[in-house]
Amino acid sequence: MRVGGKNVPGLCEAALTAITEAVVITEAVLTRPGPTIVYVNPAFEAMTGYAADEVIGRTPRMLQGRATDRDVLDRLREGLEQHGYFHGEAINYRKDGTPYVVEWVISAIRGEDDDVTHWVAAQRDITVHRASADHQRALYADVVQQIRSTTSKLRDLVERAR
Ligand SMILES: Cc1cc2nc3c(=O)[nH]c(=O)nc-3n(C[C@H](O)[C@H](O)[C@H](O)COP(=O)(O)O)c2cc1C
Repeated sequence: MRVGGKNVPGLCEAALTAITEAVVITEAVLTRPGPTIVYVNPAFEAMTGYAADEVIGRTPRMLQGRATDRDVLDRLREGLEQHGYFHGEAINYRKDGTPYVVEWVISAIRGEDDDVTHWVAAQRDITVHRASADHQRALYADVVQQIRSTTSKLRDLVERAR
């Protein structure tokens, strides 16, 4: 089939190359040594600092590190095995060792017999959103603290004026 002058596989590849979300495709087997990475797009290379040929044949576990939350990985595995889908957040590490907060959606790619043949993950670096959400929470806590302290001072003044 041709769409817009290109055959569909070519168009799909062009789309994966153009989009700003990082995309990772792995083989279906989740148990070590799987899931083996078979494709990453340029947005993944830009986000992680790894070139495609450095990650193809390895597993996404290479992005894990000290702050990786084991509970998230257990939920990921359960989600994929039971529902063929997972949406979550985790800490990943770039090639230079810097951590970032990643939001993932992982979905099953199924073959004709409905068996899972691959997994595809769309990943976004949400470090800035998380940092600003944390900052807003800290600001809010600060404002609440100031209101409490002012209220208590006012109460003291009123008591003393009686
Ligand atoms: C398509 C896909 C993308 C994944 N991306 C990541 C990732 O970016 N970071 C991460 O820590 N784990 C990622 N994982 C999960 C790990 O590869 C692995 O499945 C997870 O650690 C659970 O396996 P384990 O219980 O053997 O550790 C991804 C898995 C799949 C299938």
